[in-house]
Amino acid sequence: MTIDDIQQIAVIGAGLMGHGIAQEFASAGYQVRLHDVSQAQVDAGIERIRDNLHLFVENELAEPDQVDETLSRIHGSDQLETVGRDADFVIEAVIESLPLKQEVFRQLDQICPPHTILASNTTAQMPSQIGAFTQRQDKILNTHYFNPPYLIPLVELIRSPKTSDETLQVAYDLMVKIGKTPAIIQKEVPGFVGPRLQAAVIREAFSIVERGIATAEDVDLVVRNSFGRRLSVAGPFQVFELAGWDLVLAAFEELYKDLNSASEINPLLREMVEADKLGVKSGDGFYEWTPEKIDEIRDRMNRTLIHRLKEDAGSET
Ligand SMILES: NC(=O)c1ccc[n+]([C@@H]2O[C@H](COP(=O)([O-])OP(=O)(O)OC[C@H]3O[C@@H](n4cnc5c(N)ncnc54)[C@H](O)[C@@H]3O)[C@@H](O)[C@H]2O)c1
Repeated sequence: MTIDDIQQIAVIGAGLMGHGIAQEFASAGYQVRLHDVSQAQVDAGIERIRDNLHLFVENELAEPDQVDETLSRIHGSDQLETVGRDADFVIEAVIESLPLKQEVFRQLDQICPPHTILASNTTAQMPSQIGAFTQRQDKILNTHYFNPPYLIPLVELIRSPKTSDETLQVAYDLMVKIGKTPAIIQKEVPGFVGPRLQAAVIREAFSIVERGIATAEDVDLVVRNSFGRRLSVAGPFQVFELAGWDLVLAAFEELYKDLNSASEINPLLREMVEADKLGVKSGDGFYEWTPEKIDEIRDRMNRTLIHRLKEDAGSET
């Protein structure tokens, strides 16, 4: 099987991630079937895609006629059977529950043709667990997107020990074809690569705040205006190779002794959750989140990500 055998895409779950994933494939010219538990959920997902496409038009990332053209390639259904029976490549983006995902994969295994590749967008589960009850474990992998999937280029491709080289190659080629940046994760480990690195940063950030070294606001200020800026241009290995590993080694000899290496959750994180200081969700966290502030940060995030996409598009021409 090669990328040329992929004509029909199915996306299972039309929520925050699923609708954006469906949009990416349809924008690239693929026929997409989108499934959720009810027609209302499917329709809501398609409406979100329409809004995103209008945002792209407003920002000159798409032509106005591409909105209807892209939407015409997306067909929604609340029946898994309808969505799965002709699919060549399926991405599952239902809520994060291992038994639910296993059941969806078990059903897809029965519905889809034998050649169909089944992928999951899970952040937490291993592909070997999700596909455990299927007869096609060589055709299962994770395709882990980052939110929002239509603005962040990277997709982590995580293989299980049973995923075939062919499956991985087709998934890789497909992602390149639709304009994503795939990274291959050779071993299934919790957190893959991106979420693992983010977890390491936030563990130290919590420790800094807990020890009174700096406030959460000042930690954010430091990251946003220093190494955060560099990291969007060059990865950590590139950044440190600009400095030289000898200097890095000398600096880390002392520093590592003082870094947080706890394998327990930071008590401050537990206190935040117990006090219902959840962030945007409860309106309170390290920051006070008024509706205006929420809109402001979401808007800033979108504008910056769109600006980066336009820069990327410009550098390719
Ligand atoms: N939110 C993120 O930032 C993010 C990032 C990467 C990966 N993920 C992963 O993507 C997956 C989806 O997350 P989300 O944020 O889009 O969640 P979400 O709650 O926004 O969407 C999940 C959708 O799945 C639907 N659903 C539930 N059961 C279903 C079933 N049996 N069949 C079909 N649809 C069903 C729900 O109705 C809902 O529309 C999760 O595994 C999550 O861990 C999320």
